Amino acid sequence: MLTLGIETSCDETAVALYDSEAGLLAHRLHSQVDLHRAYGGVVPELASRDHIRKLPLLIRDVLERAGTDPATIDGVAYTAGPGLIGALMVGASVASSLAFSWRVPVLGVHHMEGHLLAPMLEDDPPEFPFVALLVSGGHTMLVAVEAIGRYQILGETLDDAAGEAFDKTAKLLDLPYPGGPALARLAESGRDGRYRFPRPMLQKPTCDFSFSGLKTAVVVATRDAVLDDQERADVALAFEQAVVDTLAGKCLRALGETGASRLVVAGGVGANKRLRERLGAEMSKLGGRLFYPRVEFCTDNGAMIALVGALRLAAGQVDADGPVARARWPLDSLEPL
Ligand code: KG4
Ligand code: ZN
Repeated sequence: MLTLGIETSCDETAVALYDSEAGLLAHRLHSQVDLHRAYGGVVPELASRDHIRKLPLLIRDVLERAGTDPATIDGVAYTAGPGLIGALMVGASVASSLAFSWRVPVLGVHHMEGHLLAPMLEDDPPEFPFVALLVSGGHTMLVAVEAIGRYQILGETLDDAAGEAFDKTAKLLDLPYPGGPALARLAESGRDGRYRFPRPMLQKPTCDFSFSGLKTAVVVATRDAVLDDQERADVALAFEQAVVDTLAGKCLRALGETGASRLVVAGGVGANKRLRERLGAEMSKLGGRLFYPRVEFCTDNGAMIALVGALRLAAGQVDADGPVARARWPLDSLEPL
C-alpha cells in the first residue's frame, strides 16, 4: 500500500510517501518559523496561505525524490485535526482533490495518533500494549494504548500544554520563537540548584498535569531582577528540571496503573534531550523500555500521517462524506482498526 501523507495542522507544511512493505520512501517539510517569528507565535491566516503556496511544491518534490509515478499511489492521507481550522482545510482540500483525480481512496487522520504511532517508523518499533506520553505545543496527555485506535486517556493537562509552557517561559527569558528548543539549549549552560520551581500536581493521585502555575513561578522569580546570561540559563535549567520531573513522575504513575512495561514519548517536547534521558533511566530501573521516534519525527512531520493513513486505508477506512477538518477531535473517539 503506497500512501501519500499530508500534514498542515499548524505551522509546518509536510509531505511523505510511505510504503507498507518498504517503509518510508521520501519526506519533505517546510517550517513556517521565519514567517511567524516577527509575531512571536503562529498567525493562523498566514499559516493557511503559506500551506497553499508550499504544498504543491513539496508534493512534487517528494514524488520526484522517491521516483514515484503518481499512478502507483494507492491512497492519500491528510491531517483532519485537531489543529488550526484554516490550515487543516488546505491539507484536506488538496489531499481530497489529488485522490479524486488519481481515483484512489482518501482518509483524514488524527494528528495526535500520528505522534503516538511515529515510533513505528523506526527499525525497532514498540509492541502493544504501551503507555504513551504525548507532549506537544497543544497537548499533554498520557494514553494507555491497547492497539491501533484503542486509546484510553489516563491524564491530560488542565491548562497549558508542556510545549506551551516551554514557549511562554522562553518568551519571559527573551528567547526567540519557537521557544522550546531555544530554552533547552540555554539550559545546557545553567548551574544546578540556583533556582527551584514547583513540580505541579506531582503529589496528586491522578495522571493529570498543570503547567500554568509553573510559568507563574518563573514570572515571580524573575520579575524584579535584571538577569545576566548565566542567570537566565540557571532559570532555564530549573524550569526544564521541574517539567521533566513532573512528566517523569506522572509517567511512572501511569505505568503503575496500567502495569505496562513499555513507554513511548512523542510530540515536539519529546525531542527534549533531558526528558528522553530521564525517561530512559526510569524505564531501565523498572526493567522496561522507552521508545521514541527520531527527533525530526517527534515534531510535526508528514511521515507519521502517511504511516497512520497506510494502516487505516489498508483496513478499508476512507472518508465517506467528503473532506474533514476538525479544530477539536478527542483522541479516544477514534475507530479501532
Ligand atoms: O508536536 P509539535 O511539533 O507541534 C504541535 O503539534 O504542537 O510540538 C511543538 C512544541 C513547541 O511548543 C516546541 O517549543 C516544543 O514542541 N519543542 C520542544 C523541543 N523541541 C520542540 N520543547 C522542549 N525541548 C525541545 N527540544
Ligand atoms: Zn504535533
